Amino acid sequence: MTRGREGKAKAEVGGRYLIGRLRADQRPQEEKFWEKRELPADLAPLHQLFEGVRGPLEVEIGCGKGKFLVGRATAEPAIRFLGVDTAGKWMKIGARRGEKRQLANLCFVRTDAGILVEKYLPARSVSVFHIYFPDPWPKKRHHKRRIAKASFFSLLREKLEDGGLIELATDNLPYYEDIQREVDLLGPVWASRRETVNQRIFCDEFKTSYELKYEAEGRPLYYMELVK
Ligand SMILES: C[S@@+](CC[C@H](N)C(=O)[O-])C[C@H]1O[C@@H](n2cnc3c(N)ncnc32)[C@H](O)[C@@H]1O
Repeated sequence: MTRGREGKAKAEVGGRYLIGRLRADQRPQEEKFWEKRELPADLAPLHQLFEGVRGPLEVEIGCGKGKFLVGRATAEPAIRFLGVDTAGKWMKIGARRGEKRQLANLCFVRTDAGILVEKYLPARSVSVFHIYFPDPWPKKRHHKRRIAKASFFSLLREKLEDGGLIELATDNLPYYEDIQREVDLLGPVWASRRETVNQRIFCDEFKTSYELKYEAEGRPLYYMELVK
């Protein structure tokens, strides 16, 4: 990893790990938090990111170590998988695993998901958005930092192909109930909406690190799927 000016960092693992360091004051603080920020300057255009893989695009928001993505990208070499997280520390582990397995269909970008979705992804370009265990920010004064809000779902919907999916999971019931209310705010814009408890709706074969940990602890897990 090379470090440049203070507040900027750049690292690559075989070109699949792209990093744009965020300062603490750049964390989501307001409703449309992505509007005032910029993409990492060193991020290649989407069509150059996947070395000739041209299949459907799935994006995991807040991918952590990328366990789910590495599993799925290995099983589905014709699908493009993009992981985005503000934290590079864990994402680096996923990037190295992808590199070891030579997964040309898997990339990670360190930036804010809102910025990536709004400024990088074309409209109707994504087949699935995965949002697993987004930070619940349980204190009321921190709720403004939550990512799963109506405005964000509306932005994701713009970027989904027709028939595309949002897959979401959380172990935090109060957050889940707030998410239900945020989705309700958008009105009947979805072709379908499914909700389950302790039963993954999409691709049960692969799970995230938090999902496995919470399952092992016996916590109830709440899932939602929205279809455009
Ligand atoms: C509780 S962890 C879950 C990680 C992973 N999805 C899993 O299930 O194992 C939440 C992740 O979301 C990331 N995150 C929080 N806010 C984000 C944002 N605005 N954009 C991108 N990632 C974000 C955090 O850095 C963290 O890695």
